[in-house]
Amino acid sequence: MKRLTFLVAFLLAAQVCAQEVGRMDELQPQQKADATELKLTGELSTKGNSDFRQLRDLCWQLRRLDLGEARCTDIPDNALHSRHRLEAVVLPRKLRTIGSQAFFACSSLRELTLPEKVESVGSAAFSMCTGLEQLTIEGTPRLGDFAFAHLRSLRRLTLRSAVPPPASPTAFEGIDRTQVEIEVPRDSERLYRKAEGWARLFGHVAASEEVCQPERVLVPMPARLERCEGEALTVNRRWEVEAGPDLANETGHAMRLIAKRIFGQTDAPKPKGRAVLRLDLDAALGHPEAYTLEVDKEGVRIVGGGQAGVFYGLMTFDQLLRGEAETRCCAAIPWLRIEDRPRTEVRELMVDPCRTFVPFDELKAFVPEMARYKLNSLHLHLVDDQAWRIEIKAYPELTAQASKRVGMDDMLRVDSGYYTQDQMRELVELAARYHVQVVPEIEMPGHEVAAIHVFPQLTCHAKEVPIRTTCGVSDELLCPGSEFTYEFLGKVFRELAEVFPSPYVHLGGDEAGNPALDCWTSCPNCQALKRQLGITTTDRSENWRLQEHLFNRVIDTLRTKHGKTPMFWYETDFKRIQPGCVTFAWRHGLTRAALDAAVANDAKIMLCPGEHCYLDYPMAPGDMPEVNWGMPVTSLEATYALDPAWGMGEEFERNNLFGVAGTLWSECINSPERIYYQAYPRAIALAEVGWSHAAVRSWKGFLQRLAPAVRDLQRRGISCSLRYEGAEGFEQR
Ligand code: ACM
Ligand code: ZN
Repeated sequence: MKRLTFLVAFLLAAQVCAQEVGRMDELQPQQKADATELKLTGELSTKGNSDFRQLRDLCWQLRRLDLGEARCTDIPDNALHSRHRLEAVVLPRKLRTIGSQAFFACSSLRELTLPEKVESVGSAAFSMCTGLEQLTIEGTPRLGDFAFAHLRSLRRLTLRSAVPPPASPTAFEGIDRTQVEIEVPRDSERLYRKAEGWARLFGHVAASEEVCQPERVLVPMPARLERCEGEALTVNRRWEVEAGPDLANETGHAMRLIAKRIFGQTDAPKPKGRAVLRLDLDAALGHPEAYTLEVDKEGVRIVGGGQAGVFYGLMTFDQLLRGEAETRCCAAIPWLRIEDRPRTEVRELMVDPCRTFVPFDELKAFVPEMARYKLNSLHLHLVDDQAWRIEIKAYPELTAQASKRVGMDDMLRVDSGYYTQDQMRELVELAARYHVQVVPEIEMPGHEVAAIHVFPQLTCHAKEVPIRTTCGVSDELLCPGSEFTYEFLGKVFRELAEVFPSPYVHLGGDEAGNPALDCWTSCPNCQALKRQLGITTTDRSENWRLQEHLFNRVIDTLRTKHGKTPMFWYETDFKRIQPGCVTFAWRHGLTRAALDAAVANDAKIMLCPGEHCYLDYPMAPGDMPEVNWGMPVTSLEATYALDPAWGMGEEFERNNLFGVAGTLWSECINSPERIYYQAYPRAIALAEVGWSHAAVRSWKGFLQRLAPAVRDLQRRGISCSLRYEGAEGFEQR
């Protein structure tokens, strides 16, 4: 009784406190940032900087949202995507459609009622609402794929309609039905039990009969795939893993994979017969990442040129088992032989924990997902104008004073956190098990405001500057004329070299051109350095030469003291590149200039041109992030269309091409789930660009092979953009 009284009092208090407005524009920016309870009653907008985008991105503390009286018939895609603090929402009484992923991962939601007039619930609309305990569906909405997947806490499902709403068979994927009390109108349980989409929830499970069609499901596409004569190998068997020496790590992956795909199905029938998964090494394959995979009546044999090759064979095996992903595992795999090897050496994703911090556990979780598609490098952008995110023992002030700020453009939220060196060691070790290297980046001379904020003597005139809370480029640079700059960078890189065993270190180097470089013109230390170096020009080329001097000194230290290969973002004014360095071609429209410079300077080059590889850009008009600093669109097709050799021929590919990289700058990515949304499915396209040989690539074939990969992502509760031709529900929206 006491609890009930308390609850009533709480609800009343909540009602009294909730701020009531027609639309979001009636609130000041700080009111949006402070709001914990809101009631909106007006006509709600759904496009651009809509009421929903503002609720999601600006009201970061929102716990209760009442839209019951709002004039709103459609809740757009991604409307309140990954709002972890949202505990309660009253949906508009007149609501008709709920967009795809509209409440994805609203993990604190406890109860939800879908009003009677709702006609459709988009795919994954409430997926990963892992705290949702009670769900009531008043009417008969069409429930899309994975609409209510992974509701792990669901205990009560109330269905008011006597006629079962039309539901996708995956609508309630990942729910333990033994934990859920289901209430349906009298006498309609029989109908529900028989209805498509509901049968599973009511206990009827049909086993998969699918025989995997490898040509339709593998991504990236292998170099060679040949079917062999024989009756397909049924997979529901007692699998034994046999492995040659030095494959303990891969054996662990093999057992995990079999447990998840084959034995992880709660309703799997008893296995029939035995099968062997045999793993071996053979250096004669000529490349550590190359592998062969054979399926016959005994089972599966994978041979790798190195451990990485065996691992990639296992990732291919996992996709064969997954098949079309209508269920978690297919019934049988045809006899076949695959011979595979990568086209490019390094296939990378870059994560930016500066603009938005990525909690350590989320960062770790990102690695196994990359590795599924044979991506092999994680580039960590550890410092920028907005934050310093890595512990440096020589300078504890950096993380103490520059890892927390309020604000990222119009989002007035607190963003705080950094990684300890022990955490980074743990990440490196985990990534190594997935054959992913971790490459740290420390920016210089630009994008260093967070460090300059802590140590003003790092910049000219020891200017004091606040941490940046907006996107864009600052005019404050490290001073190349001050010895403290070299002492600072030397200590930072020395500690990084001990933590990150990767042979590469990224030095930034982007966007430190004019006018920012003008900060060096009036600095007495910079002037003295120019005199010392005999630089006499005054046509603005002199500051670029100072930048070259700064880079050369640091590159020399990295090479001679730490044995590291330096990398940097290429700028066309950066005329001379030290041979053997790796440059990144990133600027829209300037790829050819970057490639020519790499060839002329005998450098390696990473292809990440904005028009193909900037995955933080929206994937289609109106896709997240709906509000940004003027980003163009990078469509899935544009990512797929990248030619890693840029038409430069085999000699370039052999001598200069380093790999391909996708960037995930996080100015507009404000939750871990949204990193995945931006990355996928484009990262899969990029993986095929970097791994698969041109002869086996085709856009239409890729789209077909992508569909099961996307279904599998959704089945595993991972968010991804569905704004591409051929995706479920894309045409309708
Ligand atoms: C960059 O996008 N500034 C490398
Ligand atoms: Zn200076």
